[in-house]
Amino acid sequence: QQFPGASPSFILVIGGLGYIGSHTVLELLREGHNVIIVDNLSNCYESVLHSIKVLITSHCKAKGRSIPLIHFHRLDYRRRTMSLLLESYSDLVMTIDSAGKQKMTYQSRISGVIHFAAYKSVVESLKRPLQYYQNNVCGLVCLMQQLDKYNIHNFIFSSSATVYGARCNAGLPLREEDLVHHPEEGVDAAGNRVALEPSAAGLSCPYARTKYFAEAILADAAAAHPAWRIVALRYFNPVGCDPSGLLGENPRGEATNLYPVLTQVLTGARPSLDVFGSNWATRDGTAVRDFIHVLDVARGHISALAWDRDGCGGFRAFNLGSGSGTTVLEAVRSLEATADRIIPLNWAGRRPGDVGVCVASTERARKELGWSPRESIVQCAADLWNFVQRSVRKPCSEGEEQVL
Ligand code: NAD
Ligand code: WQD
Repeated sequence: QQFPGASPSFILVIGGLGYIGSHTVLELLREGHNVIIVDNLSNCYESVLHSIKVLITSHCKAKGRSIPLIHFHRLDYRRRTMSLLLESYSDLVMTIDSAGKQKMTYQSRISGVIHFAAYKSVVESLKRPLQYYQNNVCGLVCLMQQLDKYNIHNFIFSSSATVYGARCNAGLPLREEDLVHHPEEGVDAAGNRVALEPSAAGLSCPYARTKYFAEAILADAAAAHPAWRIVALRYFNPVGCDPSGLLGENPRGEATNLYPVLTQVLTGARPSLDVFGSNWATRDGTAVRDFIHVLDVARGHISALAWDRDGCGGFRAFNLGSGSGTTVLEAVRSLEATADRIIPLNWAGRRPGDVGVCVASTERARKELGWSPRESIVQCAADLWNFVQRSVRKPCSEGEEQVL
């Protein structure tokens, strides 16, 4: 609660204009949080900020509420300026330590941090591993040190189902404890533990390893310092977009994930979808994934902000998935039905590094976060189609390049 004259508190969202970040920012604003967004625009466009402002303004008008604060800083979170930014949202206050000694400490107006900023392409990470480790791991370590300095210890990290690596091969819903703990250890098709070569352990690309190492670093930090309250959210396959069609997935780089590629086929930017693999042991031979609506993912962050195990903090990982599997072909068919279009398919071989089935167990998030997914795969298709239609009709909002 804010009282007249009291300084407002903020949630800091790093990478907040990207695909998942922008939807989470919107959800935070809808919940009445003030938000600071840091993004260097390396994989998004500033017009996303405009869309967020349009959407929250109409939402607040309809609800008769005042619009929460939105502060945007175009900034690489690894730059020194990040420290100045954190300082500008902090006050130096006199405190008395347990020995009765007075000392000056920072009290921040940032009550929580959600860290989305990272590079995320599997293929690119094989070509530029050091850049991936720099942004996704080194940057994270420096950020944690800065946050600690300003006494900001409520941290939410974007992790990924990719950390399960070879565990996916068992074909069972993945539980948070199902990590491959050592590079030499994995599971065979029957779910038995077997020795594996490091490269076969399933963490077969640098991107996957950045997320795995990042989680380990965060867990170590929380174990060493009881003030930390760190949640790693392991997203499965986030898809769809805000029903308004004003926000969506519009990366700068080449699209390689299924739904961005499908979007390009629907807009005519690509002639067809290459379906990678038709001989997986699944109901129609195409791979099974756990597609989760991005708004459900966004809501997961709101739930995670309130997580605190017995008031003791620490580190905890949660899956954010729908809990059910959809084949690639089923995903295509649902989009075809919504758009009333035929999506031309080109049957291709398996993509290197792919797994046949990857589905989340959502039990822990349901129990401990009180979170559960609400949207269906049909809703994902409907919202994506709305976004595609709006994007094609109204290509540029601020003279920016349109890349769909
Ligand atoms: P995204 O690329 O759309 O968003 C990331 C945002 O961070 C971008 O806006 C980019 O400009 C910004 N950014 C990157 N490096 C930065 C830096 N050094 N300083 C400031 N800003 C920086 O990606 P997304 O799909 O929204 O994913 C968000 C997070 O979730 C990432 O960490 C990603 O690894 C993780 N994740 C994504 C998926 C997925 O399928 N989209 C699945 C699992 C995990
Ligand atoms: C889904 C299915 C493809 C494109 C990746 C990352 C993972 C996480 C989510 C960040 C697969 C098939 C795809 C195409 C296709 N990201 N496909 N034709 O591979 O499950 O996960 O994104 O953390 O780390 O690995 O997602 O969307 O690329 O693929 O047939 O043109 O669609 O083979 O079976 P994936 P995806």
